[in-house]
Amino acid sequence: MIKHITLVAVISLCCANSHSQTYSSNGMVVSDNLEASKVGIEILKKGGNAIDASIATAFALAVAHPQAGNIGGGGFMVYMDDSSRVTTIDFREMAPVKASSTMFLDENGELIKGKNHVGALSAGVPGTVAGLYLAHQKYGKLPWEDLIAPAIDMANNGVSMSYTLASHAIKIHNSDNPEFLKSLYLDSLGMPLKFGSIWKQPELANTLGLIRDNGKDGFYKGSVAEEIERYMLENGGIITKDDLIQYKAIERKPLKGTYKGYEIFSMAPPSSGGVAMIEMLNIMEQANLEHTPFNSTEYVHLTAEVMRRAFADRAQYLGDPDYNIDMPIDKLISKEFAKNRLSNIDMEKASISDSSLFGQIYDGTNTTHFSVIDKDGNAVSVTYTLEQSYGSGMGSKSLGFIFNNEMGDFNPQPGYTNSEGLIGTNPNLIEPKKRMLSSMTPTIVAKDGKPVLIIGSPGGRTIINTVFQTVLCFLEYNMSIEESIEAMKIHHQWLPNKLFFEENKLSPDTIEALTLKGHDLQGRRYLGRLMGISIDKENGVYIGASDTSSPDGGAIGY
Ligand code: GLY
Repeated sequence: MIKHITLVAVISLCCANSHSQTYSSNGMVVSDNLEASKVGIEILKKGGNAIDASIATAFALAVAHPQAGNIGGGGFMVYMDDSSRVTTIDFREMAPVKASSTMFLDENGELIKGKNHVGALSAGVPGTVAGLYLAHQKYGKLPWEDLIAPAIDMANNGVSMSYTLASHAIKIHNSDNPEFLKSLYLDSLGMPLKFGSIWKQPELANTLGLIRDNGKDGFYKGSVAEEIERYMLENGGIITKDDLIQYKAIERKPLKGTYKGYEIFSMAPPSSGGVAMIEMLNIMEQANLEHTPFNSTEYVHLTAEVMRRAFADRAQYLGDPDYNIDMPIDKLISKEFAKNRLSNIDMEKASISDSSLFGQIYDGTNTTHFSVIDKDGNAVSVTYTLEQSYGSGMGSKSLGFIFNNEMGDFNPQPGYTNSEGLIGTNPNLIEPKKRMLSSMTPTIVAKDGKPVLIIGSPGGRTIINTVFQTVLCFLEYNMSIEESIEAMKIHHQWLPNKLFFEENKLSPDTIEALTLKGHDLQGRRYLGRLMGISIDKENGVYIGASDTSSPDGGAIGY
């Protein structure tokens, strides 16, 4: 029922059907916010390329989708150009210089529950502005100013409060939240803005104006950097002007795998997404699913077992590559390793996730993904985040943006791992200037050097599994982009030893059969909020689809 109301509201506000497949031949933008998708499309129509449209969309999401769109967070971009060159940009947040592996522990060396996700101390040095700026410098076409202008207009002239934003406004107002977050959606009488009213953000427009005029220095130097330092000092944070000056987005080689003749390009560490997804696809390829019906007991059991193994490997080996130079990535994504991983899967019974080993329960669920393609076939896949919904909720009123709480993605208590979700393995412990391990999995699938699928999702640790299953549905089960996005998803992350599944999409018989095999099943309303584009090369058509779990999202083409 709620879902129905949401859709009607969005449609009446935006005059568009945002969720069914959308077809075009000149360009396509799919994001978690239809207005932001429109901004991207306008840039393409003006002659911008997919990088330009991505930058404009990212800044627009920072205004219209503040629960995850951001300039106070970080993320990753995967880019395949029209000559088949693939690269990635890592703009993951970085631990401040004053951070340490014990910063969230009490005097007994125990984690102070929740501390790594709360307050200004939980903020990593933001990377988004540096990442978008680097992408523009290297691959953009239109002037930088033109790409931020629409977001500034949106912030100045206001965004219409969608059903989602209006419900957030009430929830935020009525619960215990940082002052800045509570002040976000208030009208002149101090009451939560209502559905359909106009929400203006002049302070954010001002900060964006400085970025427009000064490039990344508008954020990392000058008055914005000074105010960040002042605010942090006053509110128990540790980010300084020096941290901001030292922050650099990094262009990295993409991670490459294959699946039955298709090339899979995704993000290398500090995201774990690419490694884990390619490892899982390799195992599935070895398993040969030709005679395994989608959604059957056999399919779900095998998929869960594959996830269990990939997540154990993730926890054991992965972290910031600049601090973990000996990560065995080539091995983890090799076909040989997949064979070995498959060989100990028992199709009759669930394995044991030994609680003395690896895993992690916590998921930051409010990240956002968008996919873009232009008329020349340049393709961009971006996932960026504040970590949790509205990040730390902290922010300076005069700057108008929210700081992430991404420090919570580090392993918070060295050496301590338990079945409830704490993990203490070395590769992802906090160190000054280190980047916290991510699960973001922006992905481009290609055939003969041309993109066939651009995909990604929010969802914390579930991201890896939802993107993996979407790629599998598309390549192995020949589903359309929309079907692949909507198809039933499961999630297993080694620890806790639970098999999550999308409620109402798995039959009671299958649930019973899986339980008999030893799985501990738990339903979730949905897993992932995928934003994807498939490319029908033969007909020269781009097909976009946004997940129905995204009430404000939409695919727009031209
Ligand atoms: N904060 C979510 C992620 O990076 O995976």
